Amino acid sequence: MNSERFDAWAAGEIDAVESALDAWVPAESPAGLGEAMRYGVLDGGKRLRPLLALAAAQCVGGAHDAALRAACAVELIHAYSLVHDDLPCMDNDVLRRGKPTVHVKFGEAQAMLAGDAMQALAFEILTPEAGVEPALQARLCGLLARAAGHAGMAGGQAIDLASIGVSLDERQLRDMHHRKTGALLQASVLMGAACGDATPQQWAALSEYGDAIGLAFQVVDDILDVTQASATLGKTAGKDENNNKPTYVSVLGLDAAKRHACELRDTAQAALARSGLADASCLQILADRVVERDS
Ligand code: IPE
Ligand code: IPE
Ligand code: MG
Ligand code: MG
Ligand code: MG
Repeated sequence: MNSERFDAWAAGEIDAVESALDAWVPAESPAGLGEAMRYGVLDGGKRLRPLLALAAAQCVGGAHDAALRAACAVELIHAYSLVHDDLPCMDNDVLRRGKPTVHVKFGEAQAMLAGDAMQALAFEILTPEAGVEPALQARLCGLLARAAGHAGMAGGQAIDLASIGVSLDERQLRDMHHRKTGALLQASVLMGAACGDATPQQWAALSEYGDAIGLAFQVVDDILDVTQASATLGKTAGKDENNNKPTYVSVLGLDAAKRHACELRDTAQAALARSGLADASCLQILADRVVERDS
């Protein structure tokens, strides 16, 4: 697949994800909760995690229905993590995806609850009455739960908050970034792969790909925080330094951080090359885009 055909493929898949989220995230929930949930997850974001899930599923001939559920579930966990990440008790941000953050718009308590409900909804979507085999449902839930919880995103966020004003070495920084961001990106790839018939060799390669691309994503996020403007990012630029957070830029310097992102992309591409997958071009292009993006 070339870049043009990839763009057409991605646009079609993003449409499918937007429609599915629109249908699955309830407008009618008690006391305005649904409105806050929809505000937090609809109409915004690059939808990278859904695309990774759908691309991985495509590579292994996975069922699209199940992969679409995986894609929406992982995006809901991601969107919930952003709602909580922006709270005053965490990063205290007022701008997200080009709009006021959920707590600015709906209040802190509602933002907390919207995040909680988005997390639960992710697992509801993975466990339909029919259409996805129970064993696959359980596998998808396990992959997502492990990436979202204490060993993954939530654990990484705890390290992030405990590291304010602390000078981490590169190993500690890598561990934090792997957990807070990498785990969910890797899970996106593996959940997609679980929807098809990946051989052990393909699974291992996709796992390595997801691991490298997951870390690369947060390295680039750290870079963009210092190189881009808020208007481009749709979130407040320069806040890592303001919040005294250790990042790849503060620990390695900007140029070394950029080089490291490219090395991680190369690691991801090498894993794909070894995977034995007949056509992994979507994942290849996604890896390039993760590193080349400007928002
Ligand atoms: C931002 O993620 C938070 C991180 C994990 C670095 P994205 O850059 O994917 O945010 P959206 O989904 O496009 O808004
Ligand atoms: C967020 O990291 C990681 C999450 C789990 C949400 P950041 O705090 O750097 O994300 P942004 O820059 O606010 O999007
Ligand atoms: Mg944060
Ligand atoms: Mg933040
Ligand atoms: Mg950031």
